[in-house]
Amino acid sequence: MKILVLGSGAREHAIITSLLSERAGHEITAAPGNAGIAADVPTVALDANDPEVVAGYALDHDIELVVIGPEAPLVAGVADAVRTRGIPTFGPGQQAAQLEGSKAFAKRIMDAAGVPTGRAVQATSLLEAEQALDAFGAPYVVKADGLAAGKGVLVTHDREAAVAHASRWLTQGGVLVEEFLEGKEVSLFFLSDGHTVLPLTPAQDYKRLGDGDTGPNTGGMGAYSPLPWLAEDAVDEITATVAEPTVRQLAEEQTPFIGLLYCGLIVTPKGIRVIEFNARFGDPETQVVLPRLATPLSALLFAAATGALAGVPRPEFRADAAVTLVLASEGYPEAPVTGRPLTGLDAAAAVEGAHVLHAATGADAASGALIATGGRVLSVVALGDSFGEARSRAYEAMGRIGLEGGQYRTDIAARV
Ligand code: AMP
Ligand code: GLY
Repeated sequence: MKILVLGSGAREHAIITSLLSERAGHEITAAPGNAGIAADVPTVALDANDPEVVAGYALDHDIELVVIGPEAPLVAGVADAVRTRGIPTFGPGQQAAQLEGSKAFAKRIMDAAGVPTGRAVQATSLLEAEQALDAFGAPYVVKADGLAAGKGVLVTHDREAAVAHASRWLTQGGVLVEEFLEGKEVSLFFLSDGHTVLPLTPAQDYKRLGDGDTGPNTGGMGAYSPLPWLAEDAVDEITATVAEPTVRQLAEEQTPFIGLLYCGLIVTPKGIRVIEFNARFGDPETQVVLPRLATPLSALLFAAATGALAGVPRPEFRADAAVTLVLASEGYPEAPVTGRPLTGLDAAAAVEGAHVLHAATGADAASGALIATGGRVLSVVALGDSFGEARSRAYEAMGRIGLEGGQYRTDIAARV
């Protein structure tokens, strides 16, 4: 199949690695990709956020499936533009992508569909925000309404900081004040063709920058899968109480969700609650979910893109434990230092059961040497028979990589 993958992160590198592992002779192109992706498949430097540019490219090159990795092209309407041309597209249209693009929209859909989530108040003034903060009490949860690249959510005991966060984001769209939910977090992905959903396998993400869940929220610093502590019937429960009603509601509103429904959940003492939806594969969870997938990915994505999931059995996953560690640049997430040389990637990939997925990597203009070009630079992934084995392989591999000022957490999957 001729497949175009949009995006440039380790998530997209994981998707491409999974497609290549099928050995089905797919012709894959990535746009724009990164240095690691470019070593695996052809890349093209087009603007992945421009609907007409992407649709034109896909038509001109007889692309049979477009897979949209990040949220920005979805929210920009790239999926609509490509689908209108009759090309199967894995990724929701602009309207359905509001499930990720607007927390207020997501709350409305959840309310309408009866999906369990935290109580929330949409504040339109600082006074309303403060009243909601006091009504819910500490710890305070304040969320920016729109896309904020992982910086929109503040969870704090500090009322002044909560008010300041609300004040800042009130000027840029809107703010939700939410009740604090206590419990372990689960990321569960669903393939959706607009009507039928199929679950993938659960993973856990580490959102905070520092060990022991300290420091600022990030896009994600590591992940593992599966979740041995999760009740066996949890996936069925989340399918029936979260994914199915959400997709049904969007279909009823004539905005069918075609693509990946990312359910961010907390297992509270009172039951499972949604904390967020995303409209695309999670990063870095994808890096641990896809290497465990035993069913060919291309067939699943194509079936979702063509409304054919009803006839597809649930995807199967290997029993292996998978761990991923994210290497971030110095200064991430506030102000990452870029342009520094990256070394040791081949040595890292030589560790048994380990591989390296690139994110913000590129070639130095003068020397051609591999350099870091952004915040989250790469993901090291390792599989093993146990979490102990997967972890020690992942850290052995990470230890072989050189990046001045590079940061990674040392406690990923330490207490599974
Ligand atoms: P989000 O961007 O909505 O995923 O939020 C980022 C992180 O903030 C989540 O992964 C949680 O760790 C935390 N968080 C978000 N909402 C809540 C909540 N209602 N209660 C507790 N923690 C939350
Ligand atoms: N890992 C969190 C996300 O992809 O949004």
